[in-house]
Amino acid sequence: MRRVLVTGARSGVGRYLVPSLREAGLEVIAVSRRPPPADAGSGLRWLRADLRSPPPAMVVPDAWIHVAPLDLLPGWLQAMRPSPRRILAFSTTSVLTKADSPDPRERAQVERLRQAEQRLRGLADERGVAWTLFRPTLIYGGGGDRNVAFIARWVRRWRVFPLVGGGRARRQPVHAEDLARACVAVLDNSATHGKLYHLGGGEVLSYRAMVDRIFAAQGQRPRYLPVPAALLAVAVRLGARLPGLGFLSPAMVWRLQRDLVFDIGPARRDFHYAPRPFRPGGSQD
Ligand SMILES: NC(=O)c1ccc[n+]([C@@H]2O[C@H](COP(=O)([O-])OP(=O)(O)OC[C@H]3O[C@@H](n4cnc5c(N)ncnc54)[C@H](OP(=O)(O)O)[C@@H]3O)[C@@H](O)[C@H]2O)c1
Repeated sequence: MRRVLVTGARSGVGRYLVPSLREAGLEVIAVSRRPPPADAGSGLRWLRADLRSPPPAMVVPDAWIHVAPLDLLPGWLQAMRPSPRRILAFSTTSVLTKADSPDPRERAQVERLRQAEQRLRGLADERGVAWTLFRPTLIYGGGGDRNVAFIARWVRRWRVFPLVGGGRARRQPVHAEDLARACVAVLDNSATHGKLYHLGGGEVLSYRAMVDRIFAAQGQRPRYLPVPAALLAVAVRLGARLPGLGFLSPAMVWRLQRDLVFDIGPARRDFHYAPRPFRPGGSQD
């Protein structure tokens, strides 16, 4: 395998994936709407394109790794002739955890993702493309995520974190670099063809333990403010009106009381998936 197309090259995962593929001796065509990052190095083929528009003329890659929103994949796959022989695409465990969300926007998003998964599988099977789907849990690392990085920014600023129900629900955060490694591991692995994997991190821990470690990574002692779920939901609804916080939803408060944990056994078995325990870094994570 020689040439790999990476859509979502500037995502948290893409930031680790592009250099890893190049280190493995593969030629990468990186796609983003933005210019390459300053540390991209020379010799990388960077294509500025919007996945909502038809794909630009390009040499057809041998493989395609899609690390952008999944519903943007089928349009390009439909238009790409001939098809790449291999596709590896990211969906999300949210298709399960948000399926019964009280927020209709989230349920609609789940429906779009489910349809995109089905379309990918259908189109790929029709054209003889070997596909693999990843459904990661909460991704951190790589800078700027809306999960761990958001909590880190919060505790740096406010030094106290609101906690619902003692923070007992369990989480399984996965580092973006471990997902990038998983991509490289499955690329030429035929045991993963036509399969879907849930990819969590190497440790299951309570929400409170997760936030404890984020406090510690910021050099702070954890401090919590116990809050009733209904009150936090109102605060989140109001917060979502502020600039840059439109992604907040009261449904997040509802999820704070649920376990978000998945079986990574099949990934361990098929491609020796070995993600790290939860170790948030400093300001980036
Ligand atoms: N974050 C999570 O916790 C999480 C959890 C489970 C699954 N996932 C999935 O895992 C993958 C990586 O997640 P992420 O959070 O690192 O990335 P992300 O923020 O969802 O975005 C990934 C990339 O998608 C690209 N993108 C979005 N719209 C585009 C468009 N119209 N045309 C071209 N590119 C477009 C963006 O590239 P540019 O802005 O550079 O164009 C961005 O770098 C995604 O498929 C995501 O859905 C994420």
